[in-house]
Amino acid sequence: MTRKILVTSALPYANGSIHLGHLVEYIQTDIWVRFQKMLPKEKVAECWYVCADDTHGTPIMLRAEREGVTPEVLIDRMAWEHRRDFDGFLIGFDSYYSTNSPENREFASLIYQRLKAAGLIEPRVIEQFYDPEKAMFLPDRFIKGTCPKCGARDQYGDSCEACGATYAPTDLVDPYSAVSGAKPVRRASEHYFFRLGECADFLKDWTRSGALQPEAANKLDEWFSAGLSDWDISRDAPYFGFEIPDAPGKYFYVWLDAPVGYMASFAHLAKEKGLDFDEYWKKDSATELYHFIGKDILYFHALFWPAMLAFSGHRTPTGVFAHGFLTVDGQKMSKSRGTFITAESYLRHLDPEWLRYYYAAKLNGSMEDVDLSLEDFAARVNSDLVGKYINIASRCAGFITKHFGGKLGTFDHAAAVRVEFESASKSGGIALAYEERDYGRALREIMRLADSANQYIAEKKPWELAKQAGREAELHAVCTTALTLFRDLTLYLKPVLPRLAEQIEGFLNIPPLVWADVWTPLPVGHAINPYQHLMTRVDAKKIEAMVEENRQSLAPAPDAHSQARHAEHQQHAATPSPGPAGHPLPPAGEGTIALDDFAKVELRIARIANAEHVEGADKLLRLTLDVGPLGTRTVFAGIKSAYAPERLVGRLTVMVANLAPRKMKFGLSEGMVLAASGDQGGPFLLAPDDGAEPGMRVK
Ligand code: 2FM
Ligand code: ZN
Repeated sequence: MTRKILVTSALPYANGSIHLGHLVEYIQTDIWVRFQKMLPKEKVAECWYVCADDTHGTPIMLRAEREGVTPEVLIDRMAWEHRRDFDGFLIGFDSYYSTNSPENREFASLIYQRLKAAGLIEPRVIEQFYDPEKAMFLPDRFIKGTCPKCGARDQYGDSCEACGATYAPTDLVDPYSAVSGAKPVRRASEHYFFRLGECADFLKDWTRSGALQPEAANKLDEWFSAGLSDWDISRDAPYFGFEIPDAPGKYFYVWLDAPVGYMASFAHLAKEKGLDFDEYWKKDSATELYHFIGKDILYFHALFWPAMLAFSGHRTPTGVFAHGFLTVDGQKMSKSRGTFITAESYLRHLDPEWLRYYYAAKLNGSMEDVDLSLEDFAARVNSDLVGKYINIASRCAGFITKHFGGKLGTFDHAAAVRVEFESASKSGGIALAYEERDYGRALREIMRLADSANQYIAEKKPWELAKQAGREAELHAVCTTALTLFRDLTLYLKPVLPRLAEQIEGFLNIPPLVWADVWTPLPVGHAINPYQHLMTRVDAKKIEAMVEENRQSLAPAPDAHSQARHAEHQQHAATPSPGPAGHPLPPAGEGTIALDDFAKVELRIARIANAEHVEGADKLLRLTLDVGPLGTRTVFAGIKSAYAPERLVGRLTVMVANLAPRKMKFGLSEGMVLAASGDQGGPFLLAPDDGAEPGMRVK
């Protein structure tokens, strides 16, 4: 039966940039979709790939507030950035939409109303922490306090980073609101719960339907044994999201409407293309629905979502495919090591198809983590793609142009390599590996074929044949054979390397390759275009430059740095060293202060949201600091000699947050950033270790 397939990747939050960790999933999904789209229509009639920005929730609401914009303005900007990054990595969504859309509101409300009609929504009064200053209930991650076990201060509401203890926010000693710093009070409010426990029998059956990977099914068994808790799907105002239709002042929790965003994005596409929405979403639909996700959101996709769908009269997912996390050089991505690499930064330095190839080589359809070893990345791309694959064309194409007017001859049927390519096409092993998301296996098989093709060329030595009179026919056949094999390799690699494949289709002068083209001859006399350079080798220096760009050590740029030292020395000689924000520093080493006095200084982590030159000031930069829940501050800092403003944006530093604002010639300075400086150089801005967040208290 011919298949109709709808595929999704998880919706990225609209409050963060796309990074290489996200891309594991989008590249994995995109390869699968591109493979399906290459299959004959009688096998796969349609395959649609939809996604959207996940736009709702408290963090987005608060971030917009901090930036002084509406959430709509923030999510529009982020959607633009996300689209740009996905395009850069050749992620071919059929629809990239937003959860803040009319369709999503409609479906979320419909699903809620149907669940309610089925008796699966229960109102319940719960008590929560409330910030009286900000007049809002506080999600757990916005409550901080002292750990009840070890006494560490400033711990989150659910667990202690110092001792690892887990607890409820109510267990915290001296809790405070991370939004305003106020002491939260307990307040009761009515919430709506989805009675997941009532869906347990259905979910157990669905789990056995084969929709999950074995590791995921095991995880679900653990959850079933532990018992399914009901799920709080409502939040009180103020909240950026959809108001619940029959409950003014109550909003759908972001995770309620996020997966519904898959439907909304498809509905948007269906309208544009004239597709039948119900064909894909109605109960017992014959179409297929696959969700690619990270293993961290399995609970939402394998429990809540199928239950929401089934009990609201919709179809359930055919498959939920979870992948593992990305590590870089065997470790968690890290800002201080420069391995927390944004998509945008990667694209400034390196070719997206290199990463697509590398991730594909590492993916096997399981939930194992994927390691990006930067050295191995360069070695693998250079050896497989440039050394083995592209090499075939670059060694043979020139002879066709030069000796045969660009026209192909006959295929060398006697060649041993023919058997290998023919049996690879007949066995369908590469196609099966793609279908099973075992791209590593597919690429190993493809590179084995590339090795054989290279061996054929090495044995036939076209460069020698070209020098010998009377061997033109042989030369013609060898190069024709090699280019035909190259065409097949290109076809096999096309889901992974779509842009390169398109370039090669142009060079070979053939229509877009589809799976049915495997092992079909290129006609005798077919004219190809002159060979043009197809792919460069990975240059390790470019990787280094990328890592450097992402490293948030706050070290100044080398050129700015050396100039800076010079300027600072002159300045030191003339005047007492000014503090970074233009405030005079006390002379070093004089006197002591009591601990209590030091405790009066409120040091906070700040992110430099903007940095700019100040007209008429030769030492100062105007910094806009994001101090998390404390909002933004403007600070004039005497660091111009050492830092180009654009190098500072995005960096974390430490600021004095409770310094009385000081009116300066250029404007009001609302604090001070900390920097070291001495005769050896400086100023050197202070930076926290990895993991620090704007607004955190430094003590
Ligand atoms: O974990 C996340 O990044 C979520 N924004 C994923 C949502 S996926 C879907 F359910 F919407
Ligand atoms: Zn603790």
